[in-house]
Amino acid sequence: MNEPVLFVLAHPDLFASRANKRMAEIAAATDGVRVYDLYAEFPDMFVHGADARSAFDGVEALVVQNPLYWYAGPGLLKEWFDRTFIAGWAYGRGGKALKGKRYLASVTTGSAAEAYRVGGRHGNPVEDYLKPYRQIAEFCQMRWQDPLVLHHARSISDDELDQHAQLLKQRLETLAAGSANS
Ligand SMILES: Cc1cc2nc3c(=O)[nH]c(=O)nc-3n(C[C@H](O)[C@H](O)[C@H](O)COP(=O)(O)O)c2cc1C
Repeated sequence: MNEPVLFVLAHPDLFASRANKRMAEIAAATDGVRVYDLYAEFPDMFVHGADARSAFDGVEALVVQNPLYWYAGPGLLKEWFDRTFIAGWAYGRGGKALKGKRYLASVTTGSAAEAYRVGGRHGNPVEDYLKPYRQIAEFCQMRWQDPLVLHHARSISDDELDQHAQLLKQRLETLAAGSANS
């Protein structure tokens, strides 16, 4: 099956998840998308880089789906970047594996949108906390897409959650079809 979109899911407890579980379900039901659940792939929390890199075979776009945990992704997401995006593959001499591929960050937060502003509870716009991911993408010559952020993920209504899931589905379909949104 042709699966040009790799949907990397980083959530340590899907059983307890509301939002990320829903996003993973909608991704799994979208043509051209492969859901790659990091905590299921690497239950010992050690990412085997060669295995992780082989998941990119035939991939044209990367989507990273995660809850915001302490202004970043859950720990295994960092481990995945550290072990997967290595010199000679992701960057540096001969490192062209990710070049030109699109990168979509899809993030959920516990707090409402108004908490993410200067002077607000979280001090800065949420985009500021995504800057390391944007820089990773750009360092590896990927094409950063406008992030998809779902605020107040455990408090919004079921309808709002469904609307966001449909938005994600549209973004996934666009990526699968290969048409850039930026
Ligand atoms: C360890 C931990 C750290 C968290 N850090 C933040 C944070 O920095 N900002 C925020 O808005 N929510 C934070 N949250 C709330 C989660 O982002 C929120 O519960 C999650 O996005 C909901 O998605 P889920 O239903 O898929 O778990 C944190 C939650 C946990 C467990």
